[in-house]
Amino acid sequence: VTAAVAALAGLLFGYDTGVISGAILYIKDQFALSPAAEEGVVSAVLLGAVLGAAFSGALADYYGRRRILIAMAVLFSIGAIGSSAAAGVGMLILCRILIGIAIGVSSYVAPLYISEISPPDKRGALVSLNQLMITCGIVVSYLVDYMLAGSHRWRWMFALGAVPALILIAGMLALYDSPRWLISKNRIKEARQVLKHIMKQGQVDSEVKRIDESLAIKKTTWKDLLQPWVRPALIVGMGLAFFQQVTGINTIIYYAPTIFQYAGFTSNKAAIFATLGVGVVNVAMTIVAIWLVDRVGRKPLLFVGMTGMTISLAVLGLAFKMSVMSETLKIVAMLSVIVYIASFAIGLGPIFWLMISEIYPLKIRGRAMSIATVTNWGFNMIIAATFLTLINKLGKANTFWLFALLSVGGIAFCYFFVPETKGHSLEKIEQHLRHNKSLRTLGT
Ligand code: BGC
Repeated sequence: VTAAVAALAGLLFGYDTGVISGAILYIKDQFALSPAAEEGVVSAVLLGAVLGAAFSGALADYYGRRRILIAMAVLFSIGAIGSSAAAGVGMLILCRILIGIAIGVSSYVAPLYISEISPPDKRGALVSLNQLMITCGIVVSYLVDYMLAGSHRWRWMFALGAVPALILIAGMLALYDSPRWLISKNRIKEARQVLKHIMKQGQVDSEVKRIDESLAIKKTTWKDLLQPWVRPALIVGMGLAFFQQVTGINTIIYYAPTIFQYAGFTSNKAAIFATLGVGVVNVAMTIVAIWLVDRVGRKPLLFVGMTGMTISLAVLGLAFKMSVMSETLKIVAMLSVIVYIASFAIGLGPIFWLMISEIYPLKIRGRAMSIATVTNWGFNMIIAATFLTLINKLGKANTFWLFALLSVGGIAFCYFFVPETKGHSLEKIEQHLRHNKSLRTLGT
């Protein structure tokens, strides 16, 4: 239940990043936006997310995971209501930046919180609930855009985001903070209470002891992140963040209708309908990932997923390169995009967020996750801002081949750097790092 409540932050992440694609069509008309102003409205959320992720790392370690999530849910509500009531484009951009900040912060604090309240053997599935909610949020936003299509209703598209935000506030108020964070603040009695809910009575004492032992560093500063034994974990987090974005996921999430139109789906309606299909496959395969992640582990899913992404991107590029018959192009494009999204959803999608919630030492977990997260949002913004230019300058085929090449790089990165965290307690992962062992040998 705790994980599901916290994962509402994921629903807001998905909804608020997805909703703009439909809303912008009407906002553009209402405020007679110039192309630059339109870009401003669309990218405000990404900018906010970069800022939020960059400046909040120490806060989650200091104030605790729960309080930060509550504060972000309040910010989501203000942003949703403010943007729906915006009288001008300035206020709209400001409110979208506020929502972006809430997304940037909660995108890592929610997985962090869930990871710290989960038993090791279910942690993969529980943390990935957050990714499931992201994908559901995206589909719901597409549906809302579809149903509310028509002038002026864009205000409702934004306002509806307040509903999950209010539920998140109420839910988090009723929940405890993470036992690990409580122990890091010496609030052992409260931590025991929480642990009693998630493990057998007899295990509580030894768990408290284990967590306490991992708190050997007494005062925490940003400098702690530079210690040599933390470095391998930083590399894994930033590397996975980079590969999750530069392999092109959000060119599909944000521009799928455009890609389908390139492939010959001439009507808007057909393109939007195909996009909805992409969203549903994203949800369905995330469910499969949740089922598999604690059974087969993280690395096999990453390998299978990235191989699928590489092949589908290569085929998509090929289809655009060869002047195939238009009907064939439509089918090949549709199939490659479906295989691509399914492969992302089973691997890099959930596993990036999961892994960064597992590999960092407790004392600096918030700060370290914020670094991986800001890397993720930064590259998200770069790809979103350059995709159409890449298509113009390099051509469609080369652009998708470039993503395919980066995906091959991602496979190599996983092979050489990424650990298998399945089944290990967070404390065991930390001990492994402290002993200066290569992260990659964890789980082998
Ligand atoms: C990524 C987002 C992406 C979403 C799609 C998330 O894991 O971080 O950038 O839009 O998955 O499902």
